[in-house]
Amino acid sequence: MAIRNLRLEGDEILSKKSREVEEIDEKIQTLIDDMIETMHKYNGVGLAAVQVGVLKRIVVIDLYDDKGPIVLINPVIIKEKGEQEVEEGCLSFPNQFAKIIRPAEVIAEYTDRNGKRMRVKAKELLAQAISHELDHLEGELFIDKIIPGTLEYIEPEK
Ligand code: NI
Repeated sequence: MAIRNLRLEGDEILSKKSREVEEIDEKIQTLIDDMIETMHKYNGVGLAAVQVGVLKRIVVIDLYDDKGPIVLINPVIIKEKGEQEVEEGCLSFPNQFAKIIRPAEVIAEYTDRNGKRMRVKAKELLAQAISHELDHLEGELFIDKIIPGTLEYIEPEK
């Protein structure tokens, strides 16, 4: 496993659309392992492959609960319900946080790393994370959707 370089604000790859994964081969498994390691290294709750420079529809999410990291390949949101106003950041925008409206609940389908098609019903933080990460696959960034005037720069504690 390896930590991969994060693509940061201003990198044009972040506004590109990612492509479907056709086969979950060895290379994809390595990418997934590296994405999880990279997400953990930077204490993120989610990471999309485009953020490490790979335009493939793969997302990893870890809420640091008993479920462990979740791997979503070719995910689609099939239903959204309600709204929640939340505080949000992104590993590609270090130290920047803002308020944003996300769906309160989402139902998503995805393929897991074993190739099995799965369905998840999510609310609260998981719904927020799925919504945020799936936006990355479309080249959409949270910064373009924030509630105006709510952006804050917060330096991490040393
Ligand atoms: Ni992000």
